[in-house]
Amino acid sequence: MGIGPTIRHKLGRFEIPAAEAYRNRFINLDDLATTLASALPAKRILEIGCGDGSFGQRLCEAYPEAEYVGIDVAPDPGRLFRGDTSRATFRSIPSSELVAERPQLFDLVCIVDVVHHLPESLRVPVLNDAVALSTEDGVIAVKDWERGAGIAHAMAFAADRYVTGDKTVRFPSREELRGYLAAGLPGYDIALEARIPPRRNNVLYVMRRPGHSA
Ligand SMILES: C[S@@+](CC[C@H](N)C(=O)[O-])C[C@H]1O[C@@H](n2cnc3c(N)ncnc32)[C@H](O)[C@@H]1O
Repeated sequence: MGIGPTIRHKLGRFEIPAAEAYRNRFINLDDLATTLASALPAKRILEIGCGDGSFGQRLCEAYPEAEYVGIDVAPDPGRLFRGDTSRATFRSIPSSELVAERPQLFDLVCIVDVVHHLPESLRVPVLNDAVALSTEDGVIAVKDWERGAGIAHAMAFAADRYVTGDKTVRFPSREELRGYLAAGLPGYDIALEARIPPRRNNVLYVMRRPGHSA
């Protein structure tokens, strides 16, 4: 366990505000969820790599009618989720296993700040799984942290590498990220490329098959 989880468990009831304050320095998750909801209707949402449920909670708030499923390879996903549990399900399962279950497909699949945590060999396969889990007219939203040169990037790297204790962290350049999308989501177009506050490093790609619009 890295230093981050150790400290977080000791914070008790202060864990959620501390985790929120920490994350807000890098990404405004409310902004991301409302950006998606303003442009993309969805009734069934999957989040691959949902973590503690922080973004899942925002998605459930931004999509008050939608059913949400969050999966993660880590144990106890959705641990900090405080939203509507009647519409949200969390499972500790890799995306490949969910594909094998052949579940009802999803019209929005989100992959937020996960690609840079994946080993190189899994980056395209996880995106392939997102395709297999999407409806024909579904949307895949990939948000990641673009590698940069400034102080913000140095802080993000230190946070992910040393605070979370994840040794596989490697942030992609914008070109690398677009390369993963091209290889992992064949037949999909970039419907939207956007920057999410407060840092320009936050790049969002909304991917969909041609001929399908919101
Ligand atoms: C920075 S967290 C992001 C959590 C959430 N998406 C959010 O934005 O609040 C990255 C997550 O990716 C997960 N992850 C790493 N490898 C994964 C894999 N192969 N499949 C699914 N999730 C994975 C980690 O366990 C971690 O919870």
